[in-house]
Amino acid sequence: MRISVIGLGYIGLPTAAMFANRGHHVIGTDVDDKKVENVNKGVFAIEEPGLLAFLRDAFNTGNLRASVEIEPCDVFIICVPTPIDDGNKPDLSYVESAGKNIASVLQKGNLVILESTVPPGTTINLLKPILEISGLTAGKDFDLCHCPERVMPGQILKELTENRRLIGGIDTKSSKRAKELYSTFVEGEIYIADPTTAEFTKLAENTFRDVNIALANELALLCEKHNTDIWKVREMANNHPRVDIHKPGPGVGGHCLPVDPWFLVNGDSGLITKCREINDGMVEHVEATITANTGQNGVVAILGTAYKANTEDKRNSPTMKLLGLLDDFDIRLHDPYVKEHRKSIDEVVEKADTLVLMVDHRDYIDIVPADILKLMKGDVVIDTRNFFDPSEWKNAGAKYILLGAREPQI
Ligand SMILES: NC(=O)c1ccc[n+]([C@@H]2O[C@H](COP(=O)([O-])OP(=O)(O)OC[C@H]3O[C@@H](n4cnc5c(N)ncnc54)[C@H](O)[C@@H]3O)[C@@H](O)[C@H]2O)c1
Repeated sequence: MRISVIGLGYIGLPTAAMFANRGHHVIGTDVDDKKVENVNKGVFAIEEPGLLAFLRDAFNTGNLRASVEIEPCDVFIICVPTPIDDGNKPDLSYVESAGKNIASVLQKGNLVILESTVPPGTTINLLKPILEISGLTAGKDFDLCHCPERVMPGQILKELTENRRLIGGIDTKSSKRAKELYSTFVEGEIYIADPTTAEFTKLAENTFRDVNIALANELALLCEKHNTDIWKVREMANNHPRVDIHKPGPGVGGHCLPVDPWFLVNGDSGLITKCREINDGMVEHVEATITANTGQNGVVAILGTAYKANTEDKRNSPTMKLLGLLDDFDIRLHDPYVKEHRKSIDEVVEKADTLVLMVDHRDYIDIVPADILKLMKGDVVIDTRNFFDPSEWKNAGAKYILLGAREPQI
């Protein structure tokens, strides 16, 4: 089959490679001509373990090529960005533009799949009419589905094949065709729904996580006020068979969790909006902790700039937001996964007044507190992830501050 994958980013490129490695002829399309050129040369900037080899395999099959121009194909899979604007409103301009491009080459018998995360109703109310500009009718002349992507950066390859998959076709034939297509590589169960239910389900999943993290963050702030420790509270409370408190932290980043809940609420205030505000506010709490414990113009060394552990993805990362709040300090950044922040930890912590752990990358497990404190000027260590062993730092002479925890006053 000739498959067109539109948008060769975190989702589109691995998806294109997956189909190419399964013997389909894949043409990836992107507006970024540098990306297109790189794919055609077999040059891939993705650093996820295993994924690079998988992309190179796809390139070597000769089944994968890229173009800035859309071409007629049997199947079109849309993987373009769906960000929010400054007012937290969905920006669907990329989906609109991809839809118009597809409409210009759409033929009878084609299947169009929207994988991008979108507000409920987008497939039916926005994409379908755009595709029908072609003069063809959805359901009669071509098939149309929303198949949300739910992979996690860092595990894309594994999750592309192992995750359960949801298919929201506009009719039974559309869903059946998409199911057959995904069955060529998906090992998880494949569920069928209508497009709006599929769109809503994907958003509900990420909103569930965002709301639960907000609860953990709110409890963490309350624990600080009450001189107790959220991490101990969480451990005790989660012994209860019907309680599962998430981990608090310095905020929620990435392409999905801080964005997707806004697609549901779309301007309404309520629990979901409040939770977004709580999670976004956590960096301000970290900034306040740094400011209260670091002298004016002090040097602050920050460990972790990615949005979460063991990935190079720093989109919407709490650390990058924190930077905008720390104008009065000399900031040094370290991250073993983010190319521009990959340097020696010793160099980053040298003469620092305060050390802040923002991301629990596995590489930080090797840090020896006494060695780091010897290099630092000050002794303040702020752990926002409960990653370090507090007693090791305290024994080495650090003033160790754990997010969500204060010493009990007995
Ligand atoms: N990254 C994730 O972990 C993840 C997980 C699940 C779902 N999603 C969703 O998948 C979608 C894509 O996300 P991503 O992370 O791959 O984005 P990305 O920014 O990494 O990649 C998107 C690509 O689309 C290209 N593009 C933009 N407009 C285009 C157009 N009109 N035609 C062709 N190419 C175009 C961009 O140049 C870019 O290369 C989003 O809706 C996102 O919410 C992402």
